[in-house]
Amino acid sequence: MEKILITGNGPLRGEVSIAGAKNAALPIIAASLLTNEPLQVSNIPAVRDISTALKLLELLGCQVERNDTELAIDSSQVHSVRAPYELVKTMRGSILLLGPLLARFGEADVSLPGGCAIGSRPVNEHIAGLEAMGAEVNIEAGYIKAAARRLRGAHFAFDVPSVTATENLMMAASLAEGTTVLENCAMEPEVGDLAKLLAAMGAGIEGAGTSTITIEGSERLNGTSHRVPPDRIETGTFLVAAAATRGDVRVVNTEPDFLHHVLGKLEQAGARLQIGPDWIHLDTDGKRCQAVNIHTAPYPAFPTDMQAQFMALNALSEGSATVVENIFENRFMHVAELQRMGADIELQGHTAIVRGRERLQGAPVMATDLRASASLVIAGLAADGDTTVDRVYHLDRGYANIDSKLAELGAVIRRI
Ligand code: EPU
Repeated sequence: MEKILITGNGPLRGEVSIAGAKNAALPIIAASLLTNEPLQVSNIPAVRDISTALKLLELLGCQVERNDTELAIDSSQVHSVRAPYELVKTMRGSILLLGPLLARFGEADVSLPGGCAIGSRPVNEHIAGLEAMGAEVNIEAGYIKAAARRLRGAHFAFDVPSVTATENLMMAASLAEGTTVLENCAMEPEVGDLAKLLAAMGAGIEGAGTSTITIEGSERLNGTSHRVPPDRIETGTFLVAAAATRGDVRVVNTEPDFLHHVLGKLEQAGARLQIGPDWIHLDTDGKRCQAVNIHTAPYPAFPTDMQAQFMALNALSEGSATVVENIFENRFMHVAELQRMGADIELQGHTAIVRGRERLQGAPVMATDLRASASLVIAGLAADGDTTVDRVYHLDRGYANIDSKLAELGAVIRRI
């Protein structure tokens, strides 16, 4: 199994270009199932979750052509509505196929994703929303079996604002009969991006990016072309890596507007930021950062997907801070690994108390999930000596060429 070997060697410096957002691309790919016309997508990131999503589409009968960051999907010949456990278990985002399959083909058979390293991650909101739209949903032998002759518009309020459940119901509602009003929706930028695509496909959709979304269903949707927006979490990850190594890095091809909270925390930590329309320049002036308190919450607040990276930064900063995880119940698996590198972190339920250390030591560590892996890489870049990060496949699920991008910024990093 591949590992990443990092030899800590001081500040990252230079320029790095950000790829398209994995979590925006996944619903776009799922939405291709809503039409029998081709969908062209650009700025597709070279990450494993996208390959998994495309493998799933091919299993269903879609024609997929991928050329670097360009993608064409033709869903006119779909012959199956079954998303099997073997693929779904490797990527929970597969649940995004449920809404589009059911809406277009009147049935869907999608494996339950099961537990994962950051918590139990239920799918009850997805199911309740589809039931409100008239679907009959049963769980049989580990699969969600859903059926509906034609979904009908409904008024549905989420108990918790779930990103993929909001996206699933928006897609389903776009082919439903009548109007759907969704309340307490997730407001993440990826939801707004999906709404843009659905509108271009012919759906009437209003309010995406706010907590209430109204969707006017159509009998059929058309193909279109779409560009995936930049990855806000990859952007944040490189900025934190720059801050942790006391570096000076310019991140380009990004969207600073999606990152207000994260950028605010970096400034609070003492980093100097300059921000342009599609770039962010972070400079620490060679200084160590100050630890900052973090409290994860749905967008526009601080994203759970940046919590682990800030934990690594805090572990290397001056002073102490608390990190509170409010979205997932078990998203602290990186703490024990950071402790192996000498980090001083105390866990009390959903709160981690981090006391910054001047230095961490390189050590063999194990990645447990995507963002946890990123935090271990950041710690390794700033630590003394060698760090090997095992189970690198977690990293490859969501970061495109992270090792070569870091090497270009001066890191000593390679796969073994
Ligand atoms: N929840 C429920 N019931 C549901 C769905 C969600 O109780 O039916 C709860 C979850 O347990 C959690 C909260 O709602 O406590 C929010 O979870 P959400 O459903 O929003 O997460 P998700 O849609 O499964 C997406 C991203 C995650 C990201 C979260 C939160 C995709 C494909 N995944 O997941 O990304 O952490 O939103 O922002 O968009 C990652 O990229 O590393 C990643 C995990």
